[in-house]
Amino acid sequence: MSETTFQVRGLNLFYGDKQALFDVNMDIESHAITALIGPSGCGKSTFLRTLNRMNDLIESCRTTGEVLYRGQDIFAVEDVNQLRREVGMVFQKPNPFPMSIYDNITFALKSMGIRDKRILDERVERSLKQSFLWEEVHDRLHENALSLSGGQQQRVCIARAIAVEPKVILMDEPTSALDPISTRKIEELVATLKTQYTIVLVTHNMQQAARCSDYTAFFLMGEVIEKDRTEVIFHSPKEQRTHDYVTGRFG
Ligand SMILES: Nc1ncnc2c1ncn2[C@@H]1O[C@H](COP(=O)(O)OP(=O)(O)O)[C@@H](O)[C@H]1O
Ligand SMILES: [Mg+2]
Repeated sequence: MSETTFQVRGLNLFYGDKQALFDVNMDIESHAITALIGPSGCGKSTFLRTLNRMNDLIESCRTTGEVLYRGQDIFAVEDVNQLRREVGMVFQKPNPFPMSIYDNITFALKSMGIRDKRILDERVERSLKQSFLWEEVHDRLHENALSLSGGQQQRVCIARAIAVEPKVILMDEPTSALDPISTRKIEELVATLKTQYTIVLVTHNMQQAARCSDYTAFFLMGEVIEKDRTEVIFHSPKEQRTHDYVTGRFG
């Protein structure tokens, strides 16, 4: 058995009276890419946001059940900022801050009190290299990140997430706003990141899940129907509903 980073047990989630997740049980393996697939509105983003308590920001949101992060109950965590540094997030639309590339990547570090320019420079270079962006931007670090292409902006966001040395990166449809070439670049990048990070990737693109992930969880109407190794989900799932979804019978 490989090591797990998250253990989710009996998780229910409600937005007001409306239940969005039903008795979710799932282990998320460390240093692997876990894809979350399923039709729109089935709870993928909701589930992803519970993993670093982003749902705390939604007032009507309530949960029952247990989410253990490295053995620790995340709902009992007091320093949510620390949790979110360890469990970073990349969103659907690239959302760099309206400031320079350099400042995007050092923003969180400075807020943690790191001021030494040598350390900051080094962290910027390392994060941009890991994000396959250094070659393209090393001579324009002080330009506004918003002047970059969409694909480059998304890699800035990944570099920004990496800069604080997280253990986990949550990605919510990170390529859905990108062209096919930028998408492939991000997919290649994600594949290299799993040696260092645990990655949970929401995607509505089944080819992407099949290409990129080690494990896939299939969500339907707030339930996890099945989670297994990706090749099992796509080639020999246990559940008929999984089979129907991955073969495109509904979606
Ligand atoms: N902030 C919110 N407030 C109320 N309902 C929400 C909120 N976010 C999502 N939902 C509802 O929860 C369900 C799951 O949504 P979501 O997690 O966004 O699905 P997915 O990411 O799979 O498309 C949907 O019915 C959606 O309308
Ligand atoms: Mg979503």
